[in-house]
Amino acid sequence: MAVTMRKYEGVRDLRAMQELTQRVWSLADPHHVGDLAWGRFMFPAEQADWPIALWEDDGRVVAWAWAQLPDDLRLQIDPAYPGLPAEVLDWFDELAGDGTREINPLDAQNDVREALLKRGYEPVDDDAPFFAHHVRELDDLPDPVLPEGFTARAVRGVEDLDRRVAVHQAAWNSTKVTRESYGTLMTVWPYRTGLDWVVEAPNGHFASNCLIWYDDVHRVGLIEPVGTDPEFRRLGLARAVCLAALHALAEAGGERAIVCPRGDAAYPVPQELYRGMGFRPYGRTRTYRR
Ligand SMILES: CC(C)(COP(=O)(O)OP(=O)(O)OC[C@H]1O[C@@H](n2cnc3c(N)ncnc32)[C@H](O)[C@@H]1OP(=O)(O)O)[C@@H](O)C(=O)NCCC(=O)NCCS
Repeated sequence: MAVTMRKYEGVRDLRAMQELTQRVWSLADPHHVGDLAWGRFMFPAEQADWPIALWEDDGRVVAWAWAQLPDDLRLQIDPAYPGLPAEVLDWFDELAGDGTREINPLDAQNDVREALLKRGYEPVDDDAPFFAHHVRELDDLPDPVLPEGFTARAVRGVEDLDRRVAVHQAAWNSTKVTRESYGTLMTVWPYRTGLDWVVEAPNGHFASNCLIWYDDVHRVGLIEPVGTDPEFRRLGLARAVCLAALHALAEAGGERAIVCPRGDAAYPVPQELYRGMGFRPYGRTRTYRR
């Protein structure tokens, strides 16, 4: 059967892309079903409307590519189709035209790295921004500890939407995630309110949050994202909300969690936070540029 390519048409295609991501998932792969959902829906549709292409064999997605123009490409290719990396890179070349282009595979993705080197991409310096992938098993989780008057709990539903969006916006000092986009995100697989945790402050504000996405086939949760309102930092809230969410993940059947903070020296705090909770690095991304 010949492989055919077509454009992304909507959320049903995201589910088909997630099916490939779940099918080929391992610690050697940079994608997780949750980061596709988060990446696609965290911002309102017009801001996330980047070209996406799907390659199918007999109706089943065997590769996808997602270009954040002008220069960044995410891609996932079923290893059973060794000819596809070249085809996907052709698609990206056509989009990028004469501009610079960048791709950020994990160091363990030898097939992608080889394809990039063959096409004239070169690795950038070691001190450039990169993501450090971390993992933690869930069998020995410490209990969360909160300052007096603060409580950790899962989001209950749309009645929490305003405060849920407010804590995200405060933590990131950005209004790009909106009530509309987060409301949509909450309807997208595999979002679960039971894995979307917040710390509520004595004044009723949400002070900190940790969202976990659960892949129940591999029993692995992805933490994405975590944030604490600057008014409440250094109180141990991020640590507590993550631990509370990780306990919920274990109760849902999860055996381990992964998280992918920046690993370069320019953005050290999140990595400190996760390592302090027992996460250990297992891989890093590296930017290849042409
Ligand atoms: C990263 C962030 C979530 C930490 O929130 P927080 O509630 O202040 O963190 P905690 O008080 O729970 O700190 C837990 C540990 O993280 C590390 N940490 C947190 N803030 C730190 C800082 N400013 N400098 C150094 N280490 C820090 C420490 O190891 C700390 O443990 P300690 O207090 O025992 O030393 C917060 O700074 C934030 O929202 N940043 C912007 C969003 C972001 O980068 N999120 C993470 C993306 S992966």
